[in-house]
Amino acid sequence: MIIETQEDVTQAVLAEMHRTPDPRTAELLELLVRHLHAFVREARLTEKEFQEAIALVNAIGQRTTPSHNEAMLLSGALGVSNLVCLLNNGARGTRPTQANNLGPFYRAGSPPCANGDTIVRSPTPGAALVFHGRVEDADGRPIAGAEVDVWQSSPKGLYENQDPAQAEMNLRGRFVSDADGRFSFRSVRPAGYPVPTDGPTGTLLAAQKRHNMRPAHLHFLIHKPGFKTIASQVYDPQDPHLDTDSQFGVTQALIGNYEEQKDGSYRLEFTFVIEPGEARLPRAPISAKAAA
Ligand SMILES: [Fe+2]
Repeated sequence: MIIETQEDVTQAVLAEMHRTPDPRTAELLELLVRHLHAFVREARLTEKEFQEAIALVNAIGQRTTPSHNEAMLLSGALGVSNLVCLLNNGARGTRPTQANNLGPFYRAGSPPCANGDTIVRSPTPGAALVFHGRVEDADGRPIAGAEVDVWQSSPKGLYENQDPAQAEMNLRGRFVSDADGRFSFRSVRPAGYPVPTDGPTGTLLAAQKRHNMRPAHLHFLIHKPGFKTIASQVYDPQDPHLDTDSQFGVTQALIGNYEEQKDGSYRLEFTFVIEPGEARLPRAPISAKAAA
């Protein structure tokens, strides 16, 4: 099609969609083109703004390494990660859910652990924490044999993949729920942390004068054949950034309850409800630890 007007451009691109053999791919591409072109028209995007946008998109890839996933970080900072999560869990967005953002720091292949083991693998100062979890179905029946991957930042606010001072896979471990659906581990109480700002996510936050903190949390990935695999996070109710999470992850259903013990350590109990569905492990956003 020879293009005569600005309206023709959209029609020309949409007209090519009929060549796309996969129906879902065709649907996604058509919606993407419609919304993208509508955005450009409504914003009256200037040529200078377009060039800056191209540079930012390129920088997302350039900033991404085996130990850092900038696109995942940016999708959280734009609220897209949690929107996708909430639309696809909790009976397709109609009920509260323990599902939450996977986040940019999940690594596959964390060490298998027995219930009660510690996930502290190198000296990690901080208040001791014992976590007691339970996995159950919507009727409260225990789910035995669920694989539960756990990961968290150190009390200094760094994941081991960001911090050459921590041992490989420090504060990461993989547990299996027992006959009563329970699993437990020992660790340290995590701190809130700043997300990296040396890429496009930092440019976004600075442009909006937003802080880059995430409220303290623990990450979980719960996998059991016959049930929909969920990523989850349990948040610290005392964190000052609970209602301004820079990744828009905090939901009411995921605020935990740390109980201080007589010896100054903490106990945290939490129940995860999973629903029937596809057990599919997510693609890990990172694969390695930062070099020293
Ligand atoms: Fe995190």
